[in-house]
Amino acid sequence: MHNDILDSLTDYPFDRLRALLGTTEPPAGMTPIHMQIGEPKHAAPEFIGPLLTQDMSEWGRYPPPNGPEELRRAIADWLETRYDLDSGTIDPGQHIAIVAGTREALFMAALLSVPTNKNGNTPAVLMPNPFYQVYVGGGALARADVVYMPAGANTGFQPDFDQVAEADLSRAALAYINTPANPQGSVATMAQLKNAIGLARKHDFVLAVDECYSEIYTGEKPPGLLDACREIGGENPFANTLVFHSLSKRSNVPGLRSGFVAGDPALIRLLLRLRQYGGAQVPLPVMNASTALWRDEAHVEASRELYRAKFDLALDMLDGKFSAFRPGGGFYLWLDVTDSEAAAYKLWTEAGLRVLPGAYLAQNNDDGSNPGARYIRMALVHDLDTTCDAITRLLNTLDS
Ligand SMILES: Cc1ncc(COP(=O)(O)O)c(C=O)c1O
Repeated sequence: MHNDILDSLTDYPFDRLRALLGTTEPPAGMTPIHMQIGEPKHAAPEFIGPLLTQDMSEWGRYPPPNGPEELRRAIADWLETRYDLDSGTIDPGQHIAIVAGTREALFMAALLSVPTNKNGNTPAVLMPNPFYQVYVGGGALARADVVYMPAGANTGFQPDFDQVAEADLSRAALAYINTPANPQGSVATMAQLKNAIGLARKHDFVLAVDECYSEIYTGEKPPGLLDACREIGGENPFANTLVFHSLSKRSNVPGLRSGFVAGDPALIRLLLRLRQYGGAQVPLPVMNASTALWRDEAHVEASRELYRAKFDLALDMLDGKFSAFRPGGGFYLWLDVTDSEAAAYKLWTEAGLRVLPGAYLAQNNDDGSNPGARYIRMALVHDLDTTCDAITRLLNTLDS
């Protein structure tokens, strides 16, 4: 006996890639380059080392579930600066939940939003297609119907809420959006964000905005949920909304497992209640290090410069091939290679380059087309020399 919904969750992209490549090896003597996973490889700021070990007795204590006040205060200050909010807009006691990385919190967003039924119908969880796989698991395990919103080149790689059927909007309990988006790096415009907020309030669903790549951009600073909330204003400026931020990509510490959720106080309370039952607390030394990371921008700027240099180099080398473009944010190249699985197989077996087929990050749309099927995702997480090597291998292998 087990939860049979789990039987439907068997297509995690990395498992599918392992199945595709099987026991194949790169050509003899060729060092593999792993660009399939979005794991930052820039150095983590050294100043967190001493903070993680300064008081070993903290490892012997259960951490306060929602962190020390200093961490929530540092986050509130960071948000107010980043999103040009008036001082005092973010109340560390009401608007912030500390989470052990945002993956778990994004999953829990579905558990906290989805009711038994909505207006007599099975609730729906809306999400872009392609998507971050965790949204699918959240929606399915909350026993909602997952409704995909196409986010292909024709909609600027962001979902168009105006194309969602009225019936699905009215039974929606939750909508995820991701900006800058994984995998395409597209950034939701202020108008798109405001439209999504308006619909969430009109139809009373939760809008969960995943902004874990918000600090990785090489051009304009991307707008976020809180910019849109600031512009809309009102008595409860964050009503129906939650935004998810992480230190994993911003500060190159995916192993630290540290992030936060901010937004509607009523939803934050529900998330904290849910976490009391099923959430992992963040260890105190990790929270101390996190406080210092949210208070420091120098390392974020240095990392951004490194990504900029890598995009400059890669785009220069690609020279428009595979429809290469500079994304609004994030650290992925999203390249049109016509057949994503065939290209990923060839790149691994002939060039030792491991990339993720876009088909694995998307579902078929209603018309049977898969919006990721033509693309591969390459994470530009390595140093400049490795990036150069990878793009050379890609061109030598696919550009014939
Ligand atoms: C779009 C997106 N959201 C959320 C996450 C989760 O990040 P973390 O749990 O490290 O905060 C990732 C990680 O790759 C991601 O790509």
